[in-house]
Amino acid sequence: LFKGVEIEQAQAEQEDLIVVGVSQLGSESDWRSAHTLSIRDALTKDAGYFLIWNNARQMQENQIKAIRGFISQRVDYIVFAPVVETGWETVLREAKDAHIPVIIIDRMVDVEDDSLYTTWIGTDAQEEGKRAGRWLERYLRKNGRTLEEINIVVLQGTIGSTAEIGRSRGFQNIAGYHDNWHILEQTTGDFTATRGKEVMRDMLRRHGDIDVLVSQNDDMTMGAIEAMQEAGVSYGEYGEVTVISFDAIYDALLLIKKGEINVDIECNPVQGAYIDNVIQRLEKGEPVGKSYIVDENVFTKENVEKFLDGRTY
Ligand code: AHR
Repeated sequence: LFKGVEIEQAQAEQEDLIVVGVSQLGSESDWRSAHTLSIRDALTKDAGYFLIWNNARQMQENQIKAIRGFISQRVDYIVFAPVVETGWETVLREAKDAHIPVIIIDRMVDVEDDSLYTTWIGTDAQEEGKRAGRWLERYLRKNGRTLEEINIVVLQGTIGSTAEIGRSRGFQNIAGYHDNWHILEQTTGDFTATRGKEVMRDMLRRHGDIDVLVSQNDDMTMGAIEAMQEAGVSYGEYGEVTVISFDAIYDALLLIKKGEINVDIECNPVQGAYIDNVIQRLEKGEPVGKSYIVDENVFTKENVEKFLDGRTY
């Protein structure tokens, strides 16, 4: 297989294609599928690219191995979505020493020396968490519940990932202003529907009176909804449990319309065009920014209708 890739790569170099090694962190969610598709749609052969793709299946050691492979294959660029933030210094230094530009996408790395990567294209996870908190403030105010005791459970994503760290911190930051908000529990559901359902089922058993579920992605929210249905707990617009979700994939937007999810904080997976743009600038020797943050929205019943038609994921 490796020989096959080498032969194809040699052909790609002859055809003057830009060889890009991509390490995608996994395929845990519908958001991730949309992210993968966006990259594949932008970095096509017609657009001048030859992609060497690696799916790390949520394991940092797989990503490190893939990046080392890209370095020894002498790719032109390395693009990677890090599963967690820490532990990248050594391999990034190896890429730097080999003079291969590294473009980090989606989540961030936590390194002291930011010259270890060329640029980062992603979303502002901490702001997403704050948006969830600010929405809850407004919602409780609107419903005359500002003085009520509010019990909150949080389904977290992959622990140590930017999406988890940022969303947890951002929400906690706003919660810190409200003595009557009680975060009863924060447990990871690994960004998957299956784990989301299992963890929510356990949380419902442990806590009798949950007012708010903050679920850090839509897949876990879908799982949690199943758990609430099975437990006979009402949720959403007219239910006991207010549902706050993240990502805003099409199926979740439909649930907002039906009143089953109260609010969805968008995380935008459409990052392929940004990557293409950065590489094209680098090819021409033009400067690029150190970070690019993609646009994001907040969806509720009030505005969801006008976005449903155009949603492709
Ligand atoms: O890093 C982005 C997050 O990862 C998305 O919110 C989630 O769905 C994905 O798995």
